[in-house]
Amino acid sequence: MATRARSTPPPGGPDEAHPKKAPSTFLADSWHAVAWSEEVASAPFAITVCNEPIVLLRLEDGTVSALAGLCPHRFASLGKGRRLPGNRLQCPYHGLEFGADGRCVANPHGAIPGVVRLKQYPLIERHSLLWLWVGGEERADPALIPDFSLLEDTGHRTIRGRLRTRAHYELITDNLMDLTHVGYVHEGGIGTDAIKDGRHTVLQAGTTLFSNRWCPDGPAAPVWSALFNHYEGHVDHWLNMRWDAPSTMWLDVGVTPTGRHRREGITVWGAHILTPETEASTHYLWAACRDFALDDKALDEHLRVPIEHAFVNEDRPMIEDIQKNMAGRTFKEMRPLILPFDQGAVRARRLLDDLRSGRKVQLLPVSSTHDAAYQ
Ligand code: FES
Ligand SMILES: [Fe+2]
Repeated sequence: MATRARSTPPPGGPDEAHPKKAPSTFLADSWHAVAWSEEVASAPFAITVCNEPIVLLRLEDGTVSALAGLCPHRFASLGKGRRLPGNRLQCPYHGLEFGADGRCVANPHGAIPGVVRLKQYPLIERHSLLWLWVGGEERADPALIPDFSLLEDTGHRTIRGRLRTRAHYELITDNLMDLTHVGYVHEGGIGTDAIKDGRHTVLQAGTTLFSNRWCPDGPAAPVWSALFNHYEGHVDHWLNMRWDAPSTMWLDVGVTPTGRHRREGITVWGAHILTPETEASTHYLWAACRDFALDDKALDEHLRVPIEHAFVNEDRPMIEDIQKNMAGRTFKEMRPLILPFDQGAVRARRLLDDLRSGRKVQLLPVSSTHDAAYQ
């Protein structure tokens, strides 16, 4: 009797059944800001991070637990479930209940399936953000959370929000680390010729990058002029971006009358935190923080409107279009042209590549548009 092959390749060959998966571009071993503190209140909060569905639960003592977001029974979304007294989370499908540590604590239909436990993720609430660690728990070092303390400093007033983009997170990092686009994409709003011509310097301290643009002696962009008591003279303008892996940025931006100390002008600090949702979509938590007009609620809207307009109507369509143009190909496969002003964005990509692959991080010297070796 003829023996049958134990496994018959499916029609179209094995690749059809198990298409080769592109390697993940996430940096699991890093802190991802997943929500503003106030977003996680009494109801379960569902979010996907690095392709992993997660549910956040504010507990009765005020802390937050982060658990796997799918019920192990039939994979219902636990984020659509109910929070019950005693820090219990009830599945919306057949009512299994889970404790804050992920253990199944009640089964309305019979015995508790004792082996069942949802994965619990390390989570820290700091600087009004919830930071989640996707990778190995033993490597979740709280000291690795970048400094965003100004966001909760009582001498500052902060506005903040959340946006979503259908694009890979590194494409948005490119946008934020290269501020030359401001003169084109945001022309007439926050862009000026002085930004296009500004001096760009990139510095590295450990795994932190600084991409700084210094734009002296030009007219203030309309948004800045309005913020700065409708100042009509020339200003010195700075835009200094700090980057930490995987895509957590802090912008220090301001204007001052040309030649004057920056204390005589105004500064707005901003959080630009990108958290990968999937390989093709990103959560964007943004904030703007100021140390002037602390009681001026109307100014909050004057800031919010241009910030959201710039990203939603100007940056986002550009970045989502680029995502489509890449049609699933990687950045390297696209063989991008690298220009001198890409220093900040390209260094962030290289550093992230080193961290993802476990290579020793290269410490590169300062580069500046005034250096012969800049390219
Ligand atoms: S899917 Fe959750 S209890 Fe059935
Ligand atoms: Fe922009």
